[in-house]
Amino acid sequence: MHPMLTTAVKAARRAGQVINRASLDISQLKVSTKQQSDYVTEVDKVAESAIIEVLRETYPTHAILAEESGSSGQSEYLWIIDPLDGTTNFIHGLPQYAVSIALAHKGVLTHAVVYDTNRNELFTASKGSGAYLNDKRLRVSKRGKLDEALIGTGFPFRSFDHIDAYLAIFRELTQKTAGLRRPGAATLDLAWVAAGRLDGFWEFGLSPWDMAAGALLISEAGGLVGDLTGEPNYMTSGNIVGGTPKVFSQLLQMIAPHLTAKLKG
Ligand code: IPD
Ligand code: CA
Ligand code: CA
Repeated sequence: MHPMLTTAVKAARRAGQVINRASLDISQLKVSTKQQSDYVTEVDKVAESAIIEVLRETYPTHAILAEESGSSGQSEYLWIIDPLDGTTNFIHGLPQYAVSIALAHKGVLTHAVVYDTNRNELFTASKGSGAYLNDKRLRVSKRGKLDEALIGTGFPFRSFDHIDAYLAIFRELTQKTAGLRRPGAATLDLAWVAAGRLDGFWEFGLSPWDMAAGALLISEAGGLVGDLTGEPNYMTSGNIVGGTPKVFSQLLQMIAPHLTAKLKG
């Protein structure tokens, strides 16, 4: 394992300890609202500090973009961190959430860790070296037909600017696929595409820390990731489509007629 990935794994496991301890008594959680339907707990913040502490010990000069504490530092190396992806699930005791850490070097995603603390599943990837679940090499599923595909998504819940386009896509996909799922932690949804548990995924309005690690996992597992037009712009637009190569292109074809000018950008 590359030393940078080893450090990321150590940081993710440290955050996992914080999350697991807190999950034993969720009645004690102090929850605050960032904006409508967007929650944060002390656990998100403590887990994030734990991650940053581990990364800084080894890489004091690297830059950081973290969900709760924002950006710091200037470097060609950028750590992109979501300490707890799926906070709403966590608050409800619904065991579907994960720690997500990625490293971008000169803007290119190079290492990724997604740690599912409930299942003790560690997803890792390094650019050019493949994706793994614990010690097992991952490949996206072999499913190629949309009508056999199980597709993950995230419902709009914070901003409803694109609700009509989203629902039109949802309406069509719900009839043309084997099924849709909304587990509630985008980073795990993407990791599950890499693991072949889902055949594709789409969501609007994500943040870089929701997507970075999962996107590298998918491409290292032989899948494809892009924005709603298939271009590599998802980290800035926040709109992402991923899947097995065949499902990815069928998803894009199906989504295209529903896109407004804003969503194409
Ligand atoms: C959220 C989850 C969710 C997605 C949201 C994200 P958070 O992250 O990934 O699945 O639908 O858009 O904000 O707030 O729990 O870290
Ligand atoms: Ca998130
Ligand atoms: Ca989060």
